[in-house]
Amino acid sequence: MSESYDIIEHQHDVVVVGAGGSGLRATRGLADAGLKTACVTKVFPTRSHTVAAQGGIASALGNMGEDDWRWHAYDTVKGGDWLGDQDAIEYLTKEAIPAIIELEHDGVPFSRTEDGRIYQRPFGGMTTHFGKGNAQRTCAAADRTGHALLHTLYQQSLKARAEFFIEYFAIDLLMTEDGECKGVLAWDLQGGKLHRFRAHQVILATGGYGRAYFSCTSAHTCTGDGIGMALRAGLPLQDPEFVQFHPTGIYGAGCLITEGARGEGGYLTNSEGERFMERYAPNAKDLASRDVVSRAETVEINEGRGVGEKQDHMLLHLEHLGPEVLQERLPGITETARIFSGVDATKEPIPVLPTVHYNMGGIPTNAFGEVVTLKDGDPESVVPGLMAVGETGCVSVHGANRLGSNSLLDLVVFGRAAAHRCEEIVPKGKMHKADTRASEEKALDRFDRLRHADGGTPTAELRDSLQASMQKYAAVFRKDDMLAEGVEQIGKEVESFANVSVTDRSMTWNSDLVETMELENLLGCAICTMHGAANRKESRGAHAHEDYTERDDENWMKHTLTWHNSGETDVRIEYRPVHMNPMTDEMEHIPPKERVY
Ligand code: FUM
Repeated sequence: MSESYDIIEHQHDVVVVGAGGSGLRATRGLADAGLKTACVTKVFPTRSHTVAAQGGIASALGNMGEDDWRWHAYDTVKGGDWLGDQDAIEYLTKEAIPAIIELEHDGVPFSRTEDGRIYQRPFGGMTTHFGKGNAQRTCAAADRTGHALLHTLYQQSLKARAEFFIEYFAIDLLMTEDGECKGVLAWDLQGGKLHRFRAHQVILATGGYGRAYFSCTSAHTCTGDGIGMALRAGLPLQDPEFVQFHPTGIYGAGCLITEGARGEGGYLTNSEGERFMERYAPNAKDLASRDVVSRAETVEINEGRGVGEKQDHMLLHLEHLGPEVLQERLPGITETARIFSGVDATKEPIPVLPTVHYNMGGIPTNAFGEVVTLKDGDPESVVPGLMAVGETGCVSVHGANRLGSNSLLDLVVFGRAAAHRCEEIVPKGKMHKADTRASEEKALDRFDRLRHADGGTPTAELRDSLQASMQKYAAVFRKDDMLAEGVEQIGKEVESFANVSVTDRSMTWNSDLVETMELENLLGCAICTMHGAANRKESRGAHAHEDYTERDDENWMKHTLTWHNSGETDVRIEYRPVHMNPMTDEMEHIPPKERVY
């Protein structure tokens, strides 16, 4: 029986958990539509990880040459190695155009062309005429696009009178006995009280779980909190085995050097000074999709052509672009390179290596952001009251590998879609009557148990061990024997959580307890990732399997669904079909073919 906690009650039409790009785009749209909206966030909104997004946001505006959203859709389907849902991809790429114009009107300070239109740069895998030409499709605010976007959306949300609950940590979903979501229990880290947020829809927008790995571009806050809550509510995580490695994380530090650097003309070399991407992707070269470039770098390193004393990284050259271009287009990464690798990018190359960057997987949703699960055999059955957007969700537009600059796009398009859907289905100001006492009790028990956890394993030690295991066993290249070891190892780490120790019992600013709850979220995401990877016997997108080197459409063109109960070493796995048909007849079905760049 847990200690009794005073709980402060709030009632809203909709509660958004998370204030990154997707959470704020949803919040702003909901509040604008007159819905009583709360945004609950564990960090100050403009410190959310979207702030770190650099290179830009894709949209076929055609400002820098001809373009068509259908070409963008083709690139996205191909980039995702035919695991993306074509109906959702149609929606993403078509709605990209009005969604960006809205951002422009909201005040996002995009870089401009000579004639005043939004500046667009080339990005990996983005083409014209269904793969024949190179597109300039990525709308940029220099190399600080996420920063510009996040600040604008926060200001617009405040203007629309959304209520913010800042530095509140979401503990668990409040569910009814028959599986409806009716709110969330959260902890005010400063005030030290627990808060019950009742809502007719909860929108999870808590980002990904990059911090399950040792080396990642993700902020320390990216701990899969929304996914952890969904797993504990008995809901699945879709396609977790698809983890994107960005080809240009700074060696040793992990910080991102934007793909926009290669879009502006940067290139990679190995220890022999060779522009090796010409061998791996003769057409797209350094602008092939990320999985292709990350694999090429790994092969170069494994074959002894890595750079440096340990021959364990590559070089990214920007010095030929000249200080003016770097200052105008890439000022942020020039500074990042100086601080984190001690390199003056105007004069010398930057040491880089593939670094975990993005989770293609997430909580399965339909194209309106509504969470779906597998109920009575129906893979489209909606979980009433629950939505997931951005990296937390898996709609799935990125399939097995996301194209650069489709992430910011996913955030705003599906944040916006979720707000539109709520406007249709949520009655304004309706009374809250649902009984969620059983799930609340469970959440309180968990909170109290972790707060008083007095085992022998410090949280940081277990997290280190988890991060090392993920880095070792679920890497750029995978193998059956390594994955089997990984499954065993992560199982042990999940079991060890029962012996975790929390030394700080206070209710305010208790980072020990926050990190322990985050670790439990990471463990759920990680075990599903490892089991999903071990089960998928093919190579597709970011899942490169050395024992099954080909894509196998006959047996594996399907989404993985994983369920995990806290503390257990088993993961239940089922599969659901990929949506191969577009949403309307404005787009033609894109049949699978060999993926070459
Ligand atoms: O390289 C980048 O600027 C990252 C963009 C993205 O992940 O979409």
